[in-house]
Parts: sequence; C-alpha cells; structure tokens
Amino acid sequence: MLNDIKEVLFSEEEISERCKELASEIEACYKETGATPLVLALLKGSIPFMAELIKRFTIPVELEFMSVSSYSGVASTGDVKINKDMDVSCRGRSILLVEDIIDTGRTIKQVVQLLYDRGAEDVKIVALLDKKEGRVVECEADYVGFDIPNAFVVGYGLDYNQKYRNLPFVGVLKEEVYS
Ligand code: IMP
Repeated sequence: MLNDIKEVLFSEEEISERCKELASEIEACYKETGATPLVLALLKGSIPFMAELIKRFTIPVELEFMSVSSYSGVASTGDVKINKDMDVSCRGRSILLVEDIIDTGRTIKQVVQLLYDRGAEDVKIVALLDKKEGRVVECEADYVGFDIPNAFVVGYGLDYNQKYRNLPFVGVLKEEVYS
C-alpha cells in the first residue's frame, strides 16, 4: 500500500493533535446549551476520526452510525443512497455529524436535510478534511480538521475501492493507481 502513496499530507500525530483542538472547541458549544450530543458517524470512512475525536470529549455523548454512499471509484455520482440507517430517533436531538471528507458537499447536505426532516433540533458538522475546490452545492462544515487541495486522498478511514482505510495517515494516492 505504501508504494501507492505519492505524498503524506497529515501524520497520525498531527491528526491526533488536531482532534484534541477540535474536541475542545466542539464541547464548549455543547456545554453552553447543556445538550448531550448524538455523535453520528457516516460509515465507513469516518470511524478512525470519530474514535480519535470522542476520546477527547469530557462531556457525555451518545454514538450512532449511518451508512450512505455517493462515490464509485474516484468520482462522486451525486446520488446519495442510505445503505444502513440509524437505530434511534433523532427527533429533538442535537446531532454532531462526523464525516471523513467533504468534496462536492452533496452527501453531507442531503444527510443534514434528512436529519432535520426527521425532527432533529440541531445538526452540526465536523469533517476531518475539506476539499473546498470540489464544492458543487452550498455546504459548510461547522468544524474542519484540515483544508486540502483537490486531490484524491486515502488513509485514516478514507478508501479507494475499499482499500487503504487502515493506513494511519492521510496521503495522496498516486494517479497511476486509479487512472
Ligand atoms: P461529497 O458528497 O462529494 O462531498 O463526497 C463525500 C464522500 O466522498 C466522502 O464521505 C468520501 O467517502 C468520498 N470522497 C470524497 N473525496 C474523497 C477522497 O479524496 N478520497 C476518498 N474518498 C473521498
């Protein structure tokens, strides 16, 4: 796998440090409202990020999971499909939606809309990575780990056809791997 990586963008240590900062910013907001957030991770890519982030919270949180897909290979299809739904109701809840990366913004925008349609009180978005150049719909995360250029990245949960998720860092995939 390592031979397929062109460049490491963020090491495990850098991601861990950033998660500490994010968690303290995020929990300050929930301390103000007194809400217990329902931390909703989008499977599968956001699992390592969610795991690192929740360890840093000192407030109680609940965990939930949902699986949606919009990508095939290295291109967004624009069509978001729910593969696995959450097990609990989000009615009246404060939801912290955890995403690995925002690119076109379609996935997160549709999931946020769905949560509000189902009666969520408040939805905040935290994304490990943000590819702002790729945006095709209006959508902003409340908290972002790192902004990145428009390259295809893998590792720390992110995959190319289900591979590379277990790399402990985020790196740019060599173009020859997918072209
Ligand atoms: P969006 O709907 O275009 O914002 O896409 C978000 C989803 O696409 C993410 O949850 C990822 O699964 C996937 N994705 C977008 N960019 C990348 C990338 O560079 N590497 C791996 N997956 C990506």
